[in-house]
Amino acid sequence: MQKKWWYGKIAYQIYPRSFKDSNGDGIGDLKGIISKLDYLKDLGVDIIWLSPVYVSPQIDNGYDIADYRSIGKEFGSMDDFKELLSEVHAKDMKLIMDLVVNHCSSEHELFRKALADPYGPEGQCFYFVKGHEDGTPPDNLRSYFGGSVWEKVTGFEDLWYLHYFAKEQPDLNWYNPALRQRVYDMMNWWLDLGIDGFRVDAIMNIAKDLTFPGLAPDDEGDGMCACGRMTAKLADKAPALLKDMRDHTYGPRGAFTVGEAFGLNPEILNDIYGKDGAFSSVFDFTVRELFEKKPGYYAYEKPSVKLYRDGNFKGQELAMKTGMVSVITENHDEPRAVSFYLRKDLQNAQGAKVLATAFLFLRGLPFIYQGQELGMTKTDFNEPGEFRDLLSFTEYQKCLKHGFSKKQALECVSLHTRDQSRTPMLWDKSKNAGFSDGTPWIRLHQDWKKLNVSVQGEDPDSVLNWYKTLIRIRKSPDLEECFACGAFAPLPCPDDSFMAYRRYDEKKEIRVYANFSEKSFTIKDDAALIVSTGDITRKDGSLMIGPGSAAVTGRDLK
Ligand code: GLC
Ligand code: CA
Repeated sequence: MQKKWWYGKIAYQIYPRSFKDSNGDGIGDLKGIISKLDYLKDLGVDIIWLSPVYVSPQIDNGYDIADYRSIGKEFGSMDDFKELLSEVHAKDMKLIMDLVVNHCSSEHELFRKALADPYGPEGQCFYFVKGHEDGTPPDNLRSYFGGSVWEKVTGFEDLWYLHYFAKEQPDLNWYNPALRQRVYDMMNWWLDLGIDGFRVDAIMNIAKDLTFPGLAPDDEGDGMCACGRMTAKLADKAPALLKDMRDHTYGPRGAFTVGEAFGLNPEILNDIYGKDGAFSSVFDFTVRELFEKKPGYYAYEKPSVKLYRDGNFKGQELAMKTGMVSVITENHDEPRAVSFYLRKDLQNAQGAKVLATAFLFLRGLPFIYQGQELGMTKTDFNEPGEFRDLLSFTEYQKCLKHGFSKKQALECVSLHTRDQSRTPMLWDKSKNAGFSDGTPWIRLHQDWKKLNVSVQGEDPDSVLNWYKTLIRIRKSPDLEECFACGAFAPLPCPDDSFMAYRRYDEKKEIRVYANFSEKSFTIKDDAALIVSTGDITRKDGSLMIGPGSAAVTGRDLK
């Protein structure tokens, strides 16, 4: 295997709005991030992914970009950005930006011109399509955020524009070479500034069937079908477009890319992140995809350790045949994992440590999401007014429509909402956990006095120090090679709440055991103990692993 510079590294996602506010307006900003780089370095982070900080009306918290080449005022200035980039590099870390090019903001100049003249050259950069004679839109797809993917164009009878996300996020027409060139110029402009690559947002959605045939209604009962199904159906059409993008931008420059690519199928994996793939890596969303089959939060099944384990195992095995995935347990779209997957009495520091152990030794590039390293649990939202994400409101209404009481709807949305992972990062015991001197744009986690960085830093047994320990182990000179490039294989698991796997190469074998159940298990394993947490006993070549405990063992093969 050809070893790339990023193998064996640790990545960290910053959600800028919620990371650190430097000027008291309640919104995290670039200066705030700069002030915390030493924290990230000390944690063991090598690569930082910055969620969008561009000019944006913030309908979808910056994933609706109005100007791709400027920094949004709430985040700072281009000078702040340049300072951030040079500080990151000075500390020997890398910075990757969020590339959101399936759509832009309806406030983008290009879209405003397009709206005024849908049949002109700017109009060709989007999808303006005539509806049916009975006044219905071109097809029956439902947007990710609810309602039709089509929005009527005022002043033009019968004309609609396409948006897979909010109506303020019009989809860009990737079949127009002029549009592609605009995107590539913008990407190269950022690469020229010295950034190290991109996290590529929602990218599989760029493949479209230009006849807009729609799909048979799904089971939501509104005659529509989730647009994500169309994306999955058209997945084979994406690689050609993606490789064109690669060849004109990051490919020749050797920059790192990680795709947010839902709806992949085994046939195209190679084209997406194999040897000649479009991206360096993709996030492994197998867990999410197993989970999200239902049409809304109201219908989701109970998440479990089994789901987390089986999804990761499936994803790891697929990746073994293809390339190097980026592994995640949380991000800004996903709930806090400790509360989501674990049973009630493990929704605490111990549960977070066992989960960290199961996660950090998987094959691929681990992305830690801000606050995950503190073992942040689910934030208590006390009323719908505390939600901020546009999807929270749609899903709350859907719950009510499906017969939930207000209390049940609040509980259900609280469990699944994207707001859960977006509450402020917890720095210390001062006002607003040291996040902001002003009023934070979204409520604080209820346990901020206990979970924050400064309290945990002083406690050798804290989740934060556990993350540091595991990262140090992952990068230790004698194990690094095996963790970076070694194979993955599942080990037999004695219980649905037990996760065990091995990593190996010609020289080493490492075994990881994570027991999330209420029972103890004895496993035959006489290899040396590398690290453990909880109740672990050795006896006669066996390892007894107590409830809520984890262990990692290792042996030399030669
Ligand atoms: C991605 C982002 C998500 C955003 C969406 C639309 O899924 O992670 O936060 O809402 O794309 O850009
Ligand atoms: Ca601020």
